[in-house]
Amino acid sequence: MSDPPLDFPITATGLVRHFGPENNRVKAVDGVDLHVSAGEIFGFLGPNGAGKSTTVRMLTTLLKPTAGSATVAGFDVVTQADRVRRSIGVALQDAAIDPLMTGNELLELQAVLYGIPAAAVRRRADELLERVGLTAAADRRVGTYSGGMRRRLDLALSLIHQPTVLFLDEPTTGLDPMSRITLWEEVRRLNREGTTVLLTTQYLEEADQLADRVAIIDNGVIVQQGTPTELKAAVGAPSLLVSVGLPGGAAQVTDVVRALDEQGVKIQHLELSEPSLDDVFAAATGHRLEGAGTGTEPATDHEGAPAVKRRGRR
Ligand SMILES: Nc1ncnc2c1ncn2[C@@H]1O[C@H](COP(=O)(O)OP(=O)(O)OP(=O)(O)O)[C@@H](O)[C@H]1O
Ligand SMILES: [Mg+2]
Repeated sequence: MSDPPLDFPITATGLVRHFGPENNRVKAVDGVDLHVSAGEIFGFLGPNGAGKSTTVRMLTTLLKPTAGSATVAGFDVVTQADRVRRSIGVALQDAAIDPLMTGNELLELQAVLYGIPAAAVRRRADELLERVGLTAAADRRVGTYSGGMRRRLDLALSLIHQPTVLFLDEPTTGLDPMSRITLWEEVRRLNREGTTVLLTTQYLEEADQLADRVAIIDNGVIVQQGTPTELKAAVGAPSLLVSVGLPGGAAQVTDVVRALDEQGVKIQHLELSEPSLDDVFAAATGHRLEGAGTGTEPATDHEGAPAVKRRGRR
């Protein structure tokens, strides 16, 4: 790890992956360009089948591109696949794990696979188990773990060789809100320690909360890219929705409120409506992410209830 730090630990240029015969071609990834900066959490946001996993599989050397090129940690994913593999940690969406093995056994196996010296294996495994909060469950069979425990074990396994670049494919899909937040905190902590993270997600809230920059992918193509704030600002300015109801509601917020007040109108309910990443997605693609845009806050919103209700535009 004596190499100078790279500005862009992950790059892709015109990355393409097609599947199937010519007359029935699936263009899973269809020309993706990426520059992920060192020390960044980069979110890859898209609905089912958008091409997220296919992109991750190419960047992590598990799948050869049909066309285009990519580098990870400064190495070409095709011609220097071994070097790439040694630099990265990967937690795949569909990792097959033997349910009869314990967390401990899996970590030890992973350590051996990565050539960690036998004398160091136990200490490293214990450190990681502690880190992801699985110490007490270390000797239980993985088949008995909950979804959240499995995801935390996947994360620990991906960290065994202290990678500088981490790929997490839908790390929180299927997790309850508390487990999701625990995992977010762990990802943030790793990132603070210097790990560059690319994670995929179907959750707008997750991209918004966790990612420094977001690429929105749909049908194998990146349709928008930027910080969550930039992306939302590009869709439109926030607006204030005022609903007027029964008298008795307290109101002294803005000029608008005052003006209404002067007219003798009592404000009972205020809603601040600002563009969400779903609005960005809809503006770019003409359709909405599955399950989004219902006008209700997702259950994952944990920052405490805002004084003024926020919601995406419908
Ligand atoms: N091995 C394969 N053979 C044929 N088609 C494939 C293969 N892998 C992926 N695809 C197709 O490529 C497209 C993109 O799939 P991909 O798994 O990358 O999507 P995704 O964004 O990860 O979706 P999800 O959120 O459901 O995980 C889909 O249409 C999928 O059916
Ligand atoms: Mg996927």
